[in-house]
Amino acid sequence: MMKPDAPLASVEIDEVSGTVLLRTTHSAYVVRVDRAAGMVRHVHWGAPLPLADAVMLPVWSEHDNSFAGRWDGVEEYPVDGGARFGVPALEVRFADGSSPLEPTVLEVDRRADDHVVVRLRDRTRPLAWFLHYRVPADGDVLERWTEFQHTGTDADGDILLLRYASAHWPLPHRPAWRAGSVHGGWCSEGRLERSVLPVGETVIGSRRGHTGHHANPWIALDAGEADEEHGEAWLVALATSGTWRLTAQHTAAGRAGVVAGEGHEGIELRLAPGASHRTPVSLALHTGHGLGQASRGFHHYLRTHVLPHPEELRPVLYNSWEATSFEVSEDNQLVLARRAADLGAELFVLDDGWFRGRDDDRAGLGDWTPHPERFPRGLRPLADEVHRLGMAFGLWVEPEMVNADSGLFRSHPDWVLHLPDRTPTELRNQLVLDFSRPEVTEWALAWLREVVAENAVDFLKWDFNRAFTEAGVHTAGPDARRVHVEHARGLYRVLDHLRTDFPHLRIEACAGGGGRVDAGILARTDQVWTSDNTDAVDRLTIQHGFSQLYPAGVMSAWVTDSPNPLTGRVVPLRFRFHSAMAGVLGIGGNLTRWTDTELAEAAELVRVYKDIRPVVQQGCQYRLLAPGEGPLAAVQYVSEDGGRAVVLVWRSNTAFGPPLPPLRLRGLDGEARYRCEETGLAWSGATLSGFGLPLPDLPPGDCASTLVRLRRVEEADSRA
Ligand code: DGJ
Repeated sequence: MMKPDAPLASVEIDEVSGTVLLRTTHSAYVVRVDRAAGMVRHVHWGAPLPLADAVMLPVWSEHDNSFAGRWDGVEEYPVDGGARFGVPALEVRFADGSSPLEPTVLEVDRRADDHVVVRLRDRTRPLAWFLHYRVPADGDVLERWTEFQHTGTDADGDILLLRYASAHWPLPHRPAWRAGSVHGGWCSEGRLERSVLPVGETVIGSRRGHTGHHANPWIALDAGEADEEHGEAWLVALATSGTWRLTAQHTAAGRAGVVAGEGHEGIELRLAPGASHRTPVSLALHTGHGLGQASRGFHHYLRTHVLPHPEELRPVLYNSWEATSFEVSEDNQLVLARRAADLGAELFVLDDGWFRGRDDDRAGLGDWTPHPERFPRGLRPLADEVHRLGMAFGLWVEPEMVNADSGLFRSHPDWVLHLPDRTPTELRNQLVLDFSRPEVTEWALAWLREVVAENAVDFLKWDFNRAFTEAGVHTAGPDARRVHVEHARGLYRVLDHLRTDFPHLRIEACAGGGGRVDAGILARTDQVWTSDNTDAVDRLTIQHGFSQLYPAGVMSAWVTDSPNPLTGRVVPLRFRFHSAMAGVLGIGGNLTRWTDTELAEAAELVRVYKDIRPVVQQGCQYRLLAPGEGPLAAVQYVSEDGGRAVVLVWRSNTAFGPPLPPLRLRGLDGEARYRCEETGLAWSGATLSGFGLPLPDLPPGDCASTLVRLRRVEEADSRA
């Protein structure tokens, strides 16, 4: 018999019934492999249960009539073929024009304690597909991906993959379903929306070749009852940085599910005989403790299993973009660098404008050598001085882009996405280099290696400033548009090589702000530039959306000038700092215009940030009050060991009304006492979460904010 304290295996299989139980820390996922029917049926995803129960659970089906797909909504990986009428995860076209598939089960292959693969193939045609399930340790996120294999010979011809999802995630029966996702645009990322999931298909995605500002590859589902702290919620995401699609399906019979995959309609992949294709990983989590817990579960997963250096605290950076725009020079950057160092910045990032021909956004992309007039001695003297000032040196690059007015485009006009008979669409005056072509990625890798090595670069801000158009000419034929998924793979290869060659190098992903934020890019970068909108009030909404899936420790946020250059809003320095201190603090204002008083206040706030940084960047985040839903917005972080808590409170718009009620905190130990570092008062965790933290008076007027630090009091001290 199993010892009571022996850890349960995360994958358990009952051979007789064909039941596979995936066990996360707080949930269970059960499938049943029916060899006779050639099907993998979904049984359960939710509260934990033992294998003994899992084997007995009935498999739900639709009403069996001649108009129904009996297993629609509960097949683990529905294909196009047979009596299936829901959203297919897999749809193909064989060389003879035929599409329908007829799956048969080959085997259930338990790869490891945490990894099982169900192998399927078509009954007669040369296609096999393997469903991978993995249960990463310590948490509730499940990983799924699929591999396709052309098992035939030249005589069979190519197979076109029309839909090639990573996974279908079936959800249980509920009387209603609600879906949450973010939408927006450039400078307005992360707008969270939760609405009824109508019966039918709801699609979110990107047809842009990159992750997108307009949507982000995740969707949260609940029965319409969950809030931050209570209720069941399911969260599905896709780790991809290319074109993608999530289709949430709500069947008339009350089932819901999400099909998550790369690509979109019209973006087809060709499998030659013997070839295989592997999808990106789709991630999903169930929790019984609300939408806040769903986010924390994902944050924990990303930190534990995805980020390359989760143990490192992100430095306080200074970035030149809003201060000097394209007009960078060795002289003006040195002035900024000295001021940034005085404030306590640890990393100085030289943004756009440093390279040949780059006087504005019309020229230069592609020619990655220093601008001869602005940096006549090259970049090294600036880098050396930055290092001497005690900061790391960072550099902006946009390797996937080219201006038509550049040496690179003149020598390699065919390297860009283009179609011979179509006018090339320039956006921001630039064209996209085709990173699915090895000669292009080799070129990028070569100059990046040189620039990093020659200039002692510690950090790259990797930008990407336009969406794809005219994509796919170089591979004539039916899958010409595969660049929509292959470009991101080329990008990943370059990033992976670069990180291997320069293990000290840290990278910030950026795509005109938050256009490339996803679990795929986060496996290869250290933080992301959240938005080009640095208005501290707008930013609260953007950050709220960001936090739904991604942790504060990767959310780069700068304090810039007031009035804000984008919105014209006047915001006190303290509020600007408090807004940016909710993530990875950076400074992006023109420090030559800040008064001595402002510089002194900023230096003090940087010092406070460094004190709270481990709690913010590596702690658990609780969204106490969402921006826009009441007079205040508030976020709380609790350190990993539970010893510290930090609360940030903002009031963007003042209004006449009663005094503010106490703020009920979360994630504290009810039995412990916590001393507020600002007031010196000690409170029990139970009081802070039950009654709430009495808030200090906020200064009058719009854009008022406060920061509260709490420290757990040791036994002896608490009695004092
Ligand atoms: C877009 C980025 O988001 C900005 O921060 C800045 O780097 C510009 N590109 C530079 O062109």
